[in-house]
This record gives sequence, structure tokens and C-alpha cells, in this order.
Amino acid sequence: MSTVTERIIKAHLVSGKMALGEEIAIRIDQTLTQDATGTMACLEFEAMGAPSVHTELSVSYVDHNLLQTDYKNADDHRFLQSFAAGHGIYFSPPGNGICHQVHLEAFGVPGKTLLGSDSHTPTGGGLGMLAIGAGGLDVALAMAGQPFYLVMPEVVGVHLIGRLPDWVSAKDVILELLRRLTVKGGVGKILEYFGPGVQTLSVPDRATIANMGAELGATTSVFPSDAVTKSFLASQGRTAVYRSLRASNAEDFKEIIEVDLGSLTPKIACPSSPDKVRDVSDVEGTPVQQVAIGSCSNSSYRDLMIVAKILEGRKIHPQVSLEINPGSRQVLENVTIAGGLLSLIRAGARMHQSGCLGCIGMGQAPATNTVSLRTFPRNFPGRSGTKNDQVYLVSPETAAAAAIYGKITDPRRLGDYPKIRQPRHFVIENRQLQAPLDPGQSCEIIRGPNIQPFPKFTAIPETWEGQVFLKVGDNITTDHIMPAGSQILPLRSNIPAISRFVYQAVDPGFIARAEQSGEGAVVGGDNYGQGSSREHAALAPRYLGVRIKLAKSFARIHKANLINFGILPLVFENPQDYDRIQSGDRLLLPNLRQRLMAGDERLPLLVNGEECWVRLELSPRHRQIIAAGGLLNMPDGNSPK
Ligand code: F3S
Repeated sequence: MSTVTERIIKAHLVSGKMALGEEIAIRIDQTLTQDATGTMACLEFEAMGAPSVHTELSVSYVDHNLLQTDYKNADDHRFLQSFAAGHGIYFSPPGNGICHQVHLEAFGVPGKTLLGSDSHTPTGGGLGMLAIGAGGLDVALAMAGQPFYLVMPEVVGVHLIGRLPDWVSAKDVILELLRRLTVKGGVGKILEYFGPGVQTLSVPDRATIANMGAELGATTSVFPSDAVTKSFLASQGRTAVYRSLRASNAEDFKEIIEVDLGSLTPKIACPSSPDKVRDVSDVEGTPVQQVAIGSCSNSSYRDLMIVAKILEGRKIHPQVSLEINPGSRQVLENVTIAGGLLSLIRAGARMHQSGCLGCIGMGQAPATNTVSLRTFPRNFPGRSGTKNDQVYLVSPETAAAAAIYGKITDPRRLGDYPKIRQPRHFVIENRQLQAPLDPGQSCEIIRGPNIQPFPKFTAIPETWEGQVFLKVGDNITTDHIMPAGSQILPLRSNIPAISRFVYQAVDPGFIARAEQSGEGAVVGGDNYGQGSSREHAALAPRYLGVRIKLAKSFARIHKANLINFGILPLVFENPQDYDRIQSGDRLLLPNLRQRLMAGDERLPLLVNGEECWVRLELSPRHRQIIAAGGLLNMPDGNSPK
């Protein structure tokens, strides 16, 4: 017997032993990219020289930055469209929907592997996929037919029993897990769901739970593929791709987390971390000025229809701006057909196009010193685009209750729980999805002035010396390192320009120090680099001269991105040595290159001449990449130039 996860990995294993902590390589069936990371992934793919993708399916989505306040985003969107057409990649244009929602609807297949340049790619786990978020370069390599390397994670069972009570939904399940496990609780793990409670959850419910496994730091989350999966695929007209993946048993897991769905209550993640979870009833009465419903966590047909049904015949509070971001054009169309759109509009909702929008700070920034209640997956400080923001994360039900009363309200006060009937067959209008050109057909790649060439990086020196550019604390997110926002995201394909924003919210002096000092280091605490798959959070610091990152521990995707761009991630052997290092200190790593290639697992680091020890938690392949100065300096992804 083995878990669903292990069965999928085994069927895709290219190299390595499936033993905990061993590096393995798996074949990738499908890839997805989105515009914030996709332009760079395309440029990287191009730099590899492959004429066309080698996957079963690759899709390029435009969903993150849909603002067109000048030419930059529109240029990038046209570049992505032409690049996809000419390289065997499907294209989902702006307004078609959020990558994860559209992928569930149109492309996801149980038992397949999916690698996406977005940290919420695990959403596909709701459909029985092994769906993993990675940096754009890893995804570009997968598009070129290379396997994906990862450390074999521990597979932890989440045993679901019971059935969700009225007014409690999938978001409350994952918020409960965040309450128990924190944003670090899933690091190095895959969460696999099993038990009788699973069959009470629809595929969109499962997708919501799998989606926010990313907030736990998990490599991914996996659900079995069963009759519920089959009926979801049938509703999408895709029964043909269904295959059963039998749920695991308790004996298949070493560690099990028990969740009684029937005992859950409405939950809320308070500012400004997804794991600051409390019962909604604990914070009732807090005035709310904005309610936003959408994102890859909660923007399915069910999510919008439950809100529409709650608001039917009601008006939103006059102090509240209710923002609705449908997950996809299909969701919007079917909610319209079912009458939900009219209920939302009459209640006073502001309807926006399908896409990420406010979730990535592209519009919908809340007013100063106000509370925003969102069905989104993350509420890191400032992510909304407003300084000192007060963003809470909730279910669609709790969001609707706050929109009506103008304050945080336990939705169970709303009376009878509306019942939503999922259509047996969704109206499917996929004309917007654009298939690639046939091989051999010529296609001009359209490059506007915002598309800049990929920078070149040097190999690691024999002995490295540099300055600590910056010291930061625990749980630093990729938003801290390389913020998003409407000024910054349009520069995603222009590294010299986007690098001007690195660490600016944390320390405005960072760039000047980096520019004056040659190469240097950043020192961090625990869980450094949590959050998104944003490879610019590695690439732009590297462009500014950061060669070393030294932390108590790293988040998985960020660590992989650091390695891909030739930044050496070092871990304190003694975490207390963190207190010995300050910004401005001189660091020396004698014989670094030789020690790196010899496989040394610990290195002496001289801090202003005094020795401390650091650990190298790297595979032999990682060492080669770092020695070469980054993955793109290695022509076949396996050996340095
Ligand atoms: Fe988009 Fe927010 Fe998800 S930016 S992909 S909706 S986390």
C-alpha cells in the first residue's frame, strides 16, 4: 500500500530514491505560467534554445497584472501571446480568469504532474494532481523537457471526518489547519487528505484547501480522485480524462492530523499573517470598510453563488465597498445564467473582471487605517498596496455577512443557510483559450521596449569576500524582498528597472549600499523567503550583487530560486550566531568554491575576522549550479560550463 502522492511520484520518477530527504527528479506532464512570472520564464526558455515545449500541455495565463495605465503591461501581454503561439503553448488572455481556476476547469487531469510558476499551483491537488509551485526557471526547464528536482517530502495524512456545518466552508478548514500548524507547519511536507469527510467536499472545496496549503509552507497538497472528481470533470465536459486514484488508509502515513469537519466554526486570519487565526466570534463588531471576494482561493461558482444567495434581496452596508473578482469567465457566465449577478449588482457590489486584481495589489487598495476583509489566501503586510493595511482573510460566507452589517459578523447570525446546486453541466465557453500554432508555422514574437534581455552572471570565486548589505528577522516574505504593486509588476521583464525596488519597504538604503560595495550578503531569521514563487526575489537581488543569503532556515521555493540564480543559501549551524552578525559586517568564506565542489556540509565563515560555522544543505546538483553562477550558465541543466 502507498499514498496517492507516492503512487503519482513513482509513476513519474526519473531519478533518485523515494526516501525522505533524498533528492528526486520527476517528469512533468503539464506546466502553467502567469504573466508576473511568465515573461521571465519565456525569456529563460528562449535562452535555452528549445523551439517548442516538450510537455503534454503548457499554458500561459495572463491574470496577475491587468491594469493598463501605460504601455508596459499591454506590451507584455502581446509578447506572451505571440510567444505562446509560436512555442506550442496554450494562451489564456487577460480577463479569462485566474490561472488556477481556469486550469481546474479546462486542463487539470487526475494523476498528472503539474509544475507552475505560481506558489498556488497546488490548487490542482483538489483534482488529484501532484501540482507544485516553482520558480520560472524551473518551469522553463520543465517546458524544455527537463525533469523537476525536489527533496522527497514527508507525506502527512490529514484525516477528515464528519461534514461541514451550515455557514462553515472549505476556507474554514484550511484556516483551522493554519491555526494549528502555522505558516511553517507544512515545510518539507506534502499534505494528503483522506477519510470519510473527503467525499463531502466538492472539487472546488478541495481546491480551496489545497490552494492554501501553500500558506502552510507545504510542497503541495493532494486529494484522491473519486466519484466527486468524476462528476466535476463531467460538469466541465471532460469525463474522458477522469481516472480513479483510490484514497489512502491511515496505515499509509507515519503522521496523521485529525480534522472533524462537523466541529469547525467560522474562522478568520487577522492582520498580517495567514496563521493569525481566530474564531470569527472573537473579533465580531470590528468595523469593515472593504470586502473583497475572489482570488484563486475562493472565486469558484459556488463561492460567488453563495454570496449572491446571501445578498439576494439585501443591500450592503453604506460604509462598505464590496468588490467581486470572479475566478474565471466561465464562473462569471454561469453565475450570470443562474441569476446571481443580478443579486450581487442589486445589493451594491462592484463587479470587476476575472483575475487576481487586489490579491496582488493591482487595484482595490483599501483606504488608510481601514479594515479590508478578503477571501484571498494571503495578508502579508502591505500586499494590498496600502501601508499599514489591516487585511483579514475569511470564507465567502463571513465576507458576505460583513458586507451586510459593515462589521465583522459571525455568518451564523444570518439565519437559514442558502443551498447552492452546482450545475450538472456548466455552460462552457472556451473560445477565449487560444491553442498554439501548428509546428512549423511561422510566428513573429512581438517585443515591446519593456522586454529586456536576461542578465549574465559570473561563476562563484575561489574565495568569497563581501559585506552584509542587510539583516532582517523571521518570516521575511518574497513581498518584503521584491514587492508587487502597480508601479513594480509592469517591470517584471526588465531586471535593471525592477531591481530598483528590492527591499525598499524594509530598508531604503539597501540599494545604495549594494551598489557601493560590490558583492554582499543578506542575513535572515527563520522561514526566510516564505510566500510566493516570485523568482524576481532572487534574480533582482543577484543583479544587485547579493551572492550569499545566510538564514536560520529557508522557505522551499525561494531557496530553489536562490540556487537557480547562483545565490548561495547558507544556514547557521548555531542559530544563536544570528545575533553576532550585523549589517555592514565583513564576511569571508575561504576556499568556498573548492569546499562547495568537494561536498563539504559545513563551512567556516569569518565575520569581521571571527569564525562561526554555517551549513550547506545542498545536493551535488545544487552545488554545480551555484559554482557555475546559476542554472542558465549550465547548457543542459546538469553540468556547469
Ligand atoms: Fe492570483 Fe492571488 Fe492567487 S495573485 S494566483 S489570486 S494568490
